[in-house]
Amino acid sequence: MDTLIPKAYYFDKTIFQPITQKIFDSTWSCFQLNQNSMNQNDCIPIEHYNTPLLLSYNGNKLNLLSNVCTHRAHILLDKKTNSNCIRCPYHGRRFDLDGRCQSSPGFSKEELKNSKNNLLNLNQYQFLDLFFYSIKPDFELKHIFNAIKKTMSFFDHDDLIYEKALSKTFVYDINWALYCENYLEGLHIPFVHKGLAKHINIASYKTFVKKNFVLQQAEAHPNQDSFVNSNIGAYYFWIFPGIMLNYYPWGLSVNIVTALEIQKTKIQYFVYKFPNAAIADDDASVLNVELEDQKAVESVQKGLHSSLFNQPSLSDQYEKGVKKFHQLILNYF
Ligand code: FES
Ligand SMILES: [Fe+2]
Repeated sequence: MDTLIPKAYYFDKTIFQPITQKIFDSTWSCFQLNQNSMNQNDCIPIEHYNTPLLLSYNGNKLNLLSNVCTHRAHILLDKKTNSNCIRCPYHGRRFDLDGRCQSSPGFSKEELKNSKNNLLNLNQYQFLDLFFYSIKPDFELKHIFNAIKKTMSFFDHDDLIYEKALSKTFVYDINWALYCENYLEGLHIPFVHKGLAKHINIASYKTFVKKNFVLQQAEAHPNQDSFVNSNIGAYYFWIFPGIMLNYYPWGLSVNIVTALEIQKTKIQYFVYKFPNAAIADDDASVLNVELEDQKAVESVQKGLHSSLFNQPSLSDQYEKGVKKFHQLILNYF
């Protein structure tokens, strides 16, 4: 059995598209949501690959629903609305904000009782101001976040403040899997991130592979910032397929990876800081490290085109996170 993703996944759209859709439908995606900006009865369309969704706010409850009419698939909302019901513009089928079908011209009350007429209400999980959702999850995100919070029990998430000025969105001309592969190993740090290597002790780098997530951690050099009562300088959690939580003594940054096209990937980068904490603004800054990674991964994307390169060779000790990533992806082939 193959243990690595076939090269065709990175190049052949007919392979890439259905598998990527399957992966992102069966796992957890996310958007940022400032709940204070939502008003009662707000309905907002949300894009998720080929599956249009809508977020509704009703009775202090958020629902993430299918945005496709259960009658004959017309899109329900194409822009934000505020109303206590959702009415399909095609033949007037009406839903409440929990997705229950209320009425539909041409159908009797009896016919509408079947739950297949209701809009599917998606699984959700909220962490900070991030709203995670899944269409049909292969695993519970809650369990992973519980495990992360247990490991980070000394880290006070409630004190974090969102830093808009430091949060960014990047679009790279690479396959999303390459971005994750790069994230999942520290072997490149001494070569690619010379500034970061001055902060963390690469010899202490450890990778823990779990069922659907990976933790990497490293000690800080003695004169560098580390967590209180510990010599650890950073914890990097990755949740399959593209959720990354980077814990530092100053706070947390979250990277959310979205596969836009076979060689186009969006990285949303959310930064949360403790009040008064200082973030290093040198060659080890998170944004500088991000740009160094981008350069490396873009080069790999080019190199993969070579007919003389077939498959990577992975180090058992230092690239076990990358191996885990490949195994998880192969489950969807
Ligand atoms: S498609 Fe919505 S009412 Fe017909
Ligand atoms: Fe890196």
